[in-house]
Amino acid sequence: MEFEKIQITLIEAHKIASEYLSVVDEISFLPGEIDFNFKVKSGENNFILKVSRPDFDLKYLDFQNELLQHLESKNVPFLFPKIIKNQAGDGQMDYLDANGQLRKVRMLEWIEGDLFSDYFPKSESLYYSLGKKGGEITNALLDFKHQLAIRTFDWDLANGLWTANHLDVFTENEREIVVYFLEKFKNIQKDYAQLRKSTIHNDANENNIVVNSKNGEIAAIIDYGDAVYSQIINDLAVSLAYAIMDTEQPLQAAIPIVKGYHEAFPLQEKELEVLYILVAMRLVISVTKSAINKQKEPENKYLLVSERPAWDLLKKWKDIPENFAFYCFRSACGFEPCPQNLAFQEYTKNNLWTVKELLPEAEFWEVETLDISISSKYVGNYANYIGSDKLYEKIVENYTQNGSLLVGGYGEVRPVYTTDAFKTRVNEGFEHRTVHLGVDFWQKAGTSILAIEDGEVFGCFDNAHPKDYGPTLILKHKKEGLVFYTLYGHLSRESLKEKYIGKKIKKGEKIAEIGEEIVNGGWAPHLHFQVILDMLGHETDFIGVSTPSLWPVYSSICPDPNAFFKISELKQKESKTFAENLNFRKQHLGKSLSLSYEKPLNIVRGQGQFLIDDAGQKYLDTVNNVAHVGHEHPKVVEAGASQMALLNTNTRYLNDEILVFAEELLQTFPPELSVLHFVNSGSEANELAMRMAKAFSGQKDMLALEVGYHGNTQACIDVSSYKFNGKGGAGCPEHTHIVPLPDAFRGIYRGKGAGSKYAKHVKDAIENIQSNGRNVAGFIAESIVSCGGQIDLPDGFLKEAYGYIRAAGGVCIADEVQVGFGRVGKAFWGFQLHGVMPDIVTMGKPIGNGHPLAAVVCTREVAEAFANGMEYFNTFGGNPVSCAIGRQVLATIKEEKMQENALEVGEYLKNSLNELQKEFPIFADIRGEGLFLGIELCDENLQPLPDQTNYLANRMKDFKILMSVDGPDHNVLKIKPPMCFSIADADYLLDCLGKVLLEYPLAKASGN
Ligand SMILES: Cc1ncc(COP(=O)(O)O)c(C=O)c1O
Repeated sequence: MEFEKIQITLIEAHKIASEYLSVVDEISFLPGEIDFNFKVKSGENNFILKVSRPDFDLKYLDFQNELLQHLESKNVPFLFPKIIKNQAGDGQMDYLDANGQLRKVRMLEWIEGDLFSDYFPKSESLYYSLGKKGGEITNALLDFKHQLAIRTFDWDLANGLWTANHLDVFTENEREIVVYFLEKFKNIQKDYAQLRKSTIHNDANENNIVVNSKNGEIAAIIDYGDAVYSQIINDLAVSLAYAIMDTEQPLQAAIPIVKGYHEAFPLQEKELEVLYILVAMRLVISVTKSAINKQKEPENKYLLVSERPAWDLLKKWKDIPENFAFYCFRSACGFEPCPQNLAFQEYTKNNLWTVKELLPEAEFWEVETLDISISSKYVGNYANYIGSDKLYEKIVENYTQNGSLLVGGYGEVRPVYTTDAFKTRVNEGFEHRTVHLGVDFWQKAGTSILAIEDGEVFGCFDNAHPKDYGPTLILKHKKEGLVFYTLYGHLSRESLKEKYIGKKIKKGEKIAEIGEEIVNGGWAPHLHFQVILDMLGHETDFIGVSTPSLWPVYSSICPDPNAFFKISELKQKESKTFAENLNFRKQHLGKSLSLSYEKPLNIVRGQGQFLIDDAGQKYLDTVNNVAHVGHEHPKVVEAGASQMALLNTNTRYLNDEILVFAEELLQTFPPELSVLHFVNSGSEANELAMRMAKAFSGQKDMLALEVGYHGNTQACIDVSSYKFNGKGGAGCPEHTHIVPLPDAFRGIYRGKGAGSKYAKHVKDAIENIQSNGRNVAGFIAESIVSCGGQIDLPDGFLKEAYGYIRAAGGVCIADEVQVGFGRVGKAFWGFQLHGVMPDIVTMGKPIGNGHPLAAVVCTREVAEAFANGMEYFNTFGGNPVSCAIGRQVLATIKEEKMQENALEVGEYLKNSLNELQKEFPIFADIRGEGLFLGIELCDENLQPLPDQTNYLANRMKDFKILMSVDGPDHNVLKIKPPMCFSIADADYLLDCLGKVLLEYPLAKASGN
């Protein structure tokens, strides 16, 4: 029938709705495949109006009503749309349309929330909640019996073979995919027919799922119009097919859905066995329907809605090995992921193989496990394994020097997999493959390898890529009804000679030799020995390193090869759980020490602009300006270690390290700042600076900026309104005077001339001090106010403020603890951005690149005034180790042109953020200089948005980007990464920000 003739207009819908409701305020179209659906607003309440097609089948409308009544009669733990009666008291009524055709009309309660299709992020907990709701619905419908549920229905998966009659609607490529799944589906028909059946919802597509945006969980699955009596597992397959569309890794998205469903409604193993195919079959039905309907009703747009994503998913789904999906589903339901593993464990349990049976030439008296795990000090700095052979030289030395068998690695999280081949895209950012799936026997090249069991050659290939296996042999074994494979990686090229697929191999036969580093993928010679219970379609290799998230599945497909040898030293080490560590910390470390993130990170390694957690996952660090030249910069590490080996004392001896460092550091300052004192922290530096100011002026009163932070000692807290006016603070001390934060964006003065107006407050404060018969000792300020929210000081402020202070005899202190050492790009020191000359400059964090080192530089006059006879002794300040480190930091900034990098990358990032701001006005202000930037989040009335800022920072962590939040209103994202932060890092950050800004909590706030 022509679509136009059956369509219901908004005017008609309004008329019908008025039969149900005394007031109809608004009415709008909703998508619908069979019925014509409308959203009706009446006062505070919303409803859904459903008008049938003229060719409706009354029986099925009654069936749906009975189903909803069944749910109403049960105390179900989920929402479903209740039936609304019309003014005559009927749940269903007739309507004669403009063409005189009879329609059936129903009105249902509207369930508040967002459609799954529109809701982002699609988090793991959202997927889990979807599965759980689906399982609860299955439970509720188990005892719903209705004759009409048993029907022949195109959308019933059990009936899915009808699609085989329409292959002509597809292109050749499309047909190939459809036929691939149809064949699989045909092959399972017998077992599939035996699976449990019930009435199922059968249509949990993305427009039938309502999300409760308040808690990010599924509120309801609506529209029971497709309910049918069929295999229960179909219902899960249907919701999977839609929910995982448009995801980077559909299987990853599917796992929590299966888990949630299984928890509400326990699935059987045989049901999981067909789930992969059923998901595909739902998509096959969908694309077939679309293709047919497109021909019939070309103007009906809804029919096309899910066609593109369905095809995308079908293609991706086909690339996933069926068994792998099966193992993942099993894992999600708590079954042994790879069922063959049970038989393998049984087979190896009662037998013993010696290492000599594998490596007959290995001479050893003891077994030594080689720990090259992520936190291993044996591995040490990243310079040992990135672009260098140091680690491998050390390993080789180790195994040639003593008589122990060097072995290990199963389940070990390792840092050494550094090529892009180990980086996989996941639904949120990347995940690195880090967990080793085999056992490594570290033996010299040329060592013979024997077959430990009879078998045949299954794979024989040179995987000649950097950090790959190099020459690889895979044997297939059949034992006691069990088929398993053994993989031998990093062999010599000769090992592959005279091998052919299917060649029979006898137990004890020599099969290979360990290869040299030049052929084996670039590793210290060793044998990678791995057991594989299912090759998952691979023929020449199989991953030897898994992502942490897939470890539960891969460790079942590739069980521990030590099951053969039973080497006691190789047993997995017991380590404290995350919860135990967290608990210990809570009990025994001071409560005021905060821990970042709702789920804290266990960081074990640093590398350049990355911090790496215990699972070997790399986090792009935009927070730690302390690691100025990059985390664990190899040269800085080396400088500290080599000086530590030589001498560490205090400043009471003449030592070149301190003198040369002092000279080099002074060269970065104007000549007026010529005297140094070395200390251990920024707090100590500011503490000393204030003592100097007081000694110089003979006064006690200090001026500081509102929301400034200058350190954790008492004197520092006393000038840090960020602290004394914050939580637990005791208010402003008597000798402290706070002037307003010179924030030209949201402060008390904005725009042109704001600098002078703010500076005037400095003048007023001084006059106020003087009116009490005292005078000012000094003024302390950062050149960009960090804790205040990366506030750029307005033009002229610092110059004028310094003028007022000096006129009153006070001292000007520039706190460069955060912003110094080239970070601001345009200058080496932040105060230079303002054309001022401080009397004292304090330095901290970056100067030691993570080592506790800080310094105070001042004018000769200030230094003289401070040297009043009392010795300034500091046990550690200026010790030779710290100074060696400081020197290397200065040298590295220069050698690696880090100030220039800060300028270039900083400007690129700032400009790009300004572009993003045009699209997302929630980014109310982008500010800062170089690699010291801030993003302030506000609504259109410039009201701060702290929740959204916090949300953004936490979501960035999910994308493996570390960000921090600051500012008096906790609405400023700070960006102050190690100075090696690159354009590519900036691009990744921008990309992720762009994605998260579209998510519900942010999109709602910015109207996107
Ligand atoms: C501006 C400023 N000054 C001083 C300090 C204190 O430095 P530290 O923590 O090294 O004592 C900090 C620390 O965050 C700071 O941000």
